[in-house]
Amino acid sequence: MRILTIYFVSLLLWGFTANSQPSTYKEKYRPQFHFSPPAHWMNDPNGMVYYKGEYHLFYQYYPEGTVWGPMHWGHAISKDLVHWQHLPIALYPDSLGYIFSGSVIVDEHNTSGFQTGTEKPLVAIFTYHNMAGEKAGTNHFQTQGIAYSLDRGRTWKKYHNNPVIKNPGIKDFRDPKVSWHAASNKWIMTMAAGNEIRFYQSANLKDWQLSGTFGNDEGNHGGVWECPDLFEMKIAGTLQTKWVLLVSIGNGAPNGGSGTQYFIGDFNGKTFQNSNTKQTQLWLDYGCDNYAGVTWSNAAGRRLFLGWMSNWQYAQTVPTRTWRSAMTLPREISLRQTADGIRLFSNPVKELEKLRTGNHEINADNKTAYPFSLGELELTVDLEKTGTTDFGIEIFNSKNEKIHVGFNKTTNQYYIDRIKSGDVFFSKVFAAKHTAPRLVRDKKLIMHLFIDHSSVELFADGGSVAMTDIFFPTEKFNSIQLYPKTKNAAFIKGTLYTLTTIWR
Ligand code: FRU
Repeated sequence: MRILTIYFVSLLLWGFTANSQPSTYKEKYRPQFHFSPPAHWMNDPNGMVYYKGEYHLFYQYYPEGTVWGPMHWGHAISKDLVHWQHLPIALYPDSLGYIFSGSVIVDEHNTSGFQTGTEKPLVAIFTYHNMAGEKAGTNHFQTQGIAYSLDRGRTWKKYHNNPVIKNPGIKDFRDPKVSWHAASNKWIMTMAAGNEIRFYQSANLKDWQLSGTFGNDEGNHGGVWECPDLFEMKIAGTLQTKWVLLVSIGNGAPNGGSGTQYFIGDFNGKTFQNSNTKQTQLWLDYGCDNYAGVTWSNAAGRRLFLGWMSNWQYAQTVPTRTWRSAMTLPREISLRQTADGIRLFSNPVKELEKLRTGNHEINADNKTAYPFSLGELELTVDLEKTGTTDFGIEIFNSKNEKIHVGFNKTTNQYYIDRIKSGDVFFSKVFAAKHTAPRLVRDKKLIMHLFIDHSSVELFADGGSVAMTDIFFPTEKFNSIQLYPKTKNAAFIKGTLYTLTTIWR
């Protein structure tokens, strides 16, 4: 009897633990080749750093709900930027506040003095958001703190003398991105402060001096500035370099809501000088769902980017149940000279090619619908031979829910139309057609698409235009077809790759 009871109790317990696995990654809308948290709320990517064969991804995380709440840093690692392993939460809120966005660097020469053994310190620099201060109506509730790990990011210790930068009386004072500036032999921090960027310098990551500001009358100011990044890059095919400053804005992006603009210029160790006019607005991605993205630190000569695949306009109401939000695909970014000036190009990292499980050619007659589950599509169009002004690809299901990803010759714009994409009712602004100007003038037009269960990413013309949009079809999209469907329509040829899941 006793043995039987133990047996039943263990069966019960087993059932309980088995069912309470954080997630199966098979839920409705669950992205299959994008990073999303096992459960609960996620926003910005944080602290991306490459160290000893591992790409670290930390992220804004609320482990007790599916809407934004007290922020922690969730954590995952990857060896190939494609498959991810979840690790325990890295940083918890403490008496100084919630842990907002920030960065991680490898302190190669132990400038911080945190190193005790052979392992290099990983140092996280993040924003503390003090709720009590905010509720009391003060304007100094955001400060910058640091924490370090001496075991390859597995465990973290907060610095005892936090905060390392106190608030000078600026309400929005956050999102430090730190990197090593070899020319001045110092750490530099790029941070959002109200409607501008502030630059700081430090020799030890603990003492910081303000060295410059940029941007209060430059670029777009439709919303608060957040999550900057600053890095130097070679202009492809030349020996010349330029500095790129990424700045996310909470509102005012070209297709509404939050988005990421960028500036190209020079940085002298202290401040940034824009090479374009103050009015110039450059956008990293024209879709509605690529926000707060920054690049990996220490990534061996590559400039790798990842963004949060949502928009503050509706992020908290999208119809997923157990988790909310995913990241964009990791992208390799590059600087290229174009007829309009130097521009930032984005392309999916080449490691993603390993997800391909098969491919077939798409017939140019536009008559055939091709079945797919998860797909990557490459389309090449001869613009001169194309007898139609508007063409593209329809992705649909049996309920006639669909999205269109296409190009309009008259307006010279790419677009993603998610007006009839399924559940669009959770936000007034969600059902919309988003557009992006075509940058290059080549006669050959190239669209490269990645289609997951609830997102599409377009990389057009070698990455000169990127568009990222999410969607929620009530039944999975399972067919694609070129349009218009009439004879003699666009001359299009292409390859469709079937992709496999990264979650098993
Ligand atoms: C951007 C942002 C950051 C902030 C974080 C809070 O989405 O607002 O500025 O640090 O989210 O979660």
